[in-house]
Amino acid sequence: MTSPLLEIRDLNMHFPVKGGMFSRTKNYVKAVNGVNLTVNQGETLGIVGESGCGKSTLARTILGLLKPTSGDILFEGESILTYNHKQMHQLRRDIQMVFQDPFTSLNPRMKAGDIIAAPLKAYRITDHLERRVLELMDLVGLKADDYHKLPHQFSGGQRQRIGIARALALNPKLMVLDEPVSALDVSVQAQVINLLEDLQKELGLTYVFIAHDLSVIKHIADKVAVMYLGKVMEISDSESFYKDAQHPYTNALLSAIPLPDPEKEKVRQRIMLKGELPSPSNPPTGCVFHTRCPFATEACKKDVPVLKATDGDNRHLVSCFYPMNAENKQLVENK
Ligand SMILES: Nc1ncnc2c1ncn2[C@@H]1O[C@H](COP(=O)(O)OP(=O)(O)O)[C@@H](O)[C@H]1O
Ligand SMILES: [Mg+2]
Repeated sequence: MTSPLLEIRDLNMHFPVKGGMFSRTKNYVKAVNGVNLTVNQGETLGIVGESGCGKSTLARTILGLLKPTSGDILFEGESILTYNHKQMHQLRRDIQMVFQDPFTSLNPRMKAGDIIAAPLKAYRITDHLERRVLELMDLVGLKADDYHKLPHQFSGGQRQRIGIARALALNPKLMVLDEPVSALDVSVQAQVINLLEDLQKELGLTYVFIAHDLSVIKHIADKVAVMYLGKVMEISDSESFYKDAQHPYTNALLSAIPLPDPEKEKVRQRIMLKGELPSPSNPPTGCVFHTRCPFATEACKKDVPVLKATDGDNRHLVSCFYPMNAENKQLVENK
């Protein structure tokens, strides 16, 4: 039986925008706007969306680094928003983060071994420290003589391995990976993703894997959520997601992925999005995606669609008045 490790309920994170003579709050950036998500023990939730759609803000609220405007975050069934200092201290062990940029997230003056040892020292777990660090280095595919090297002596992929070892040091239950391979070359991306998959199996980890590209998480995610302007547009288990994506935005993102088969690639049809991403401090009325949607109608400008199930067992949800099915996808392809 799978049980939820993390539940995000109706979460809002609105940053005040101040201005004018008295620095009054003029407006809010609705970075996260009514998000509901569940991540079960041992699974990987992939979160995808363009830059600025609220992915990192969501990650920071999960880690307890930001206090949300409203809503709730449950970890192992308990609201972390009511946690006291001691409980937060424990939570910071249980939930670890891997950052996008392996160049800026590692202290350039610290040796690799010391970077990996830092969380252990912070939690005063210092028995057999060096042995534990070497074990972690081995786990992520680094060599023992890498211990004394400085970050600049490593490649981007190796540096991300150091970041992963550091995140594993305290035996976390949940890892929040915020675009962990976006800064790496495509060939190295696959190696790091394979490593993360192996670690998940070996250690029983649960992942929230953030990416801005659907192809990155295709093989690792059990469930995929697509975000747009702080909202979840579509969420589904991976199989149904890649086979039967229904939101026009998801289909646009999928149609942007090059196909491995050169014959199919030649005739690949892209769903082109109109215009720029609107500002999250002034989101469009109705469906927030309507300004860029090739299928929007008058109704989409006025009414807000809710995320609702498209199948009987609640596994595939979409927030759209006109979800795409095989028939209208065909129309796009023939256009
Ligand atoms: N501390 C903050 N104060 C004000 N606005 C913020 C803050 N952090 C993020 N934002 C804004 O929230 C929106 C979402 O940002 P972010 O969560 O970083 O998106 P993503 O990770 O998807 O690129 C952006 O418009 C960003 O400028
Ligand atoms: Mg981000």
